[in-house]
Amino acid sequence: MPTAFITGITGQDGAYLAQLLLEKGYEVHGGVRRNSQPERIRLERLGIEDRLHLHEFELTEPNNIFRTLRDVAMDEFYNLAAQSFVGASWDMPVHTADVDAMGVVRVLDTLRSLRPEVRFYQASTSEMFGQVREVPQRETTGFHPRSPYGAAKVYGHYITVNYRESFGMHASSGILFNHESPLRGEEFVTRKITRGLARLARGGNDPVELGNMDAQRDWGFAGDYVEGMWRMLQQEEAGDYVLATGVTTTIRDFFTYAAEALDMELDWQGEGEAETATDRRTGKRVMQVNPKFYRPAEVDLLIGDAGKARDRLGWAPRVGIRELAGMMARADYDLPV
Ligand code: NAP
Ligand code: GDD
Repeated sequence: MPTAFITGITGQDGAYLAQLLLEKGYEVHGGVRRNSQPERIRLERLGIEDRLHLHEFELTEPNNIFRTLRDVAMDEFYNLAAQSFVGASWDMPVHTADVDAMGVVRVLDTLRSLRPEVRFYQASTSEMFGQVREVPQRETTGFHPRSPYGAAKVYGHYITVNYRESFGMHASSGILFNHESPLRGEEFVTRKITRGLARLARGGNDPVELGNMDAQRDWGFAGDYVEGMWRMLQQEEAGDYVLATGVTTTIRDFFTYAAEALDMELDWQGEGEAETATDRRTGKRVMQVNPKFYRPAEVDLLIGDAGKARDRLGWAPRVGIRELAGMMARADYDLPV
């Protein structure tokens, strides 16, 4: 039975990856942070919490990482833990760098000393492309990060490449475009939209307040993307892979698809800070712009080319954008308000 260790197992991707590896017959270990109350909602929602081996784990704490890697015999290590919210990274740039950049080298260097044969996955991101240098973005596209989060992740990516090249470690970097699900954190725009619309559909009156409606993202389903992570570590040689759908969508269009799934008919009015959307069927305002959600610097357009992953990993996304928006909106409709 192969053994895997997942950092960030309580997050969206960690939960789906743990579920996938259990289905594949793995013994699954995961790192959890000490909280004032146990927050394992995603693992509970997937019904897998009791099948996991959980360890107190903190990426900023070198000795904690050392003891964990010493005590758990593992074949694969997936580093998914991060301060993952771009918006918060301007308020917490040092913490973000400590976790998202230094945390990676802490793990890699400990693995190098204790378990250099372990296969390592780093959760890199399309946010590294930032102000994009070519369209679509692929493994060879240069980086121009536009946030402290993106800058920290560029270090995490290159140190992963460096440990592969310097020490021959099986260290892969997955450059993943945005991926969402009903388990997505509620601060990210897709889930904020589907949660807000579901509340409105169930009788609420508060419009969803959003920032930049024109940004475009290449959104896929998280369940598809964790399969790609696993496939990367099954290759004879480690490498870097983009996972993306190749389809880009504005925030406005995602909002429309989610609203349609809840039988709303939208009437869009105004532009910029004055933009609003109203549900014609109820007359309720369902969206208004609030400039407090604008970012100091924006990533305007992301669209990925996952050709390498398709050719070498046999990976392809299965869920399209309308299906994704509908899946999330309906799941939120079924949750308690
Ligand atoms: P998420 O839902 O925000 O989960 C982040 C996880 O990291 C949580 O389990 C969190 O623990 C843990 N964590 C945060 N700080 C930590 C620390 N200092 N020590 C140990 N654990 C810590 O993120 P996600 O969407 O699953 O994303 C997974 C990874 O992929 C992240 O590295 C993210 O940056 C990257 N990524 C995500 C996407 C995407 O679209 N989802 C795209 C590209 C890359 P708590 O539960 O205790 O908070
Ligand atoms: N969060 C949020 N809230 N974003 C908003 C809002 C709002 O009210 N209004 C507009 N947006 C815009 C943001 O300005 C951004 O352009 C876009 O929606 C997506 O924002 P997020 O959903 O927060 O995701 P992200 O693209 O910044 O980051 C996510 O994807 C990255 C991969 O590209 C995160 O999952 C990162 O961890 C990940 O690396």
